[in-house]
Amino acid sequence: MNLINTNNNTTSLLNGDCIEMFKEIADESIDLIITDPPYNLGNFMKARQTNLKKMRSNFFGDAGWDNDSYEDWLNHMDSFIKESRRVLKKNGAMIIFMSIIKVESIINMAQNNGLYYKTTGIWHKTNPMPRNMNLHFINSNECWIYFTNKTKTGTFNNNGKAIHDFFESSVTPSSEKKYGKHPTQKPESLIESFVKILSNRNDTVLDCFMGSGTTGVVSKRLGRNFVGIELNEEYFNIAKQRINDVDNENYRIDIEELTN
Ligand SMILES: C[S@@+](CC[C@H](N)C(=O)[O-])C[C@H]1O[C@@H](n2cnc3c(N)ncnc32)[C@H](O)[C@@H]1O
Repeated sequence: MNLINTNNNTTSLLNGDCIEMFKEIADESIDLIITDPPYNLGNFMKARQTNLKKMRSNFFGDAGWDNDSYEDWLNHMDSFIKESRRVLKKNGAMIIFMSIIKVESIINMAQNNGLYYKTTGIWHKTNPMPRNMNLHFINSNECWIYFTNKTKTGTFNNNGKAIHDFFESSVTPSSEKKYGKHPTQKPESLIESFVKILSNRNDTVLDCFMGSGTTGVVSKRLGRNFVGIELNEEYFNIAKQRINDVDNENYRIDIEELTN
């Protein structure tokens, strides 16, 4: 099997299951992983009979990719973290987005797989859906967990400024959804902060749960090579169009549409 090119101004997009697709990526070839895996909240939300479904036409609980039992989800996350560690370079870093209630599971698993735990931070949404606002606190936070590989300090471009473990932004604006909607699409400004701080130009960034391709859009715009993996064909096509649309003529796109 030919391994994909992770250098030389390329963006490689793979359509399929990430655990299978990781086999296409060479050991120690990735500088930074930024990824937003299923949070294992689908069954939890359904059991609570949340009214999110009524309020949102593209409710993530109905999308079908977050319905694993907790045990199956743990096994899947363990395989993804093992493969992530294999492909990360020494001194590489990883950001995993996660729901607050699952953070400890991910930290334990990543440490057991040899990653160095650095920080748990917050993304605060300034305009979340004000669901049942008279009954409880509005859900407006998601977490991100920061790890490094075989080092305690990796790339950290803070330009001498103190950076808090807290990012604030609006939810994803509709201008970033012109090729189609993804129920949990992250805003480009949020991902841009991580790409700028934790990588350098010509580094290679991987997102193995790419969704609508936000990490790829930002990576290409900022002159990083990118590898993106997405299981769902509809989301994959949105990602392909969004990333293609980024104006960076130096970057080639190699698209592998493997099915498994
Ligand atoms: C939380 S979303 C990511 C959204 C993304 N951050 C964005 O900005 O659009 C998780 C994505 O992982 C995909 N996914 C779930 N299981 C997968 C697997 N085994 N391999 C690859 N992708 C998978 C889902 O289809 C979904 O699009």
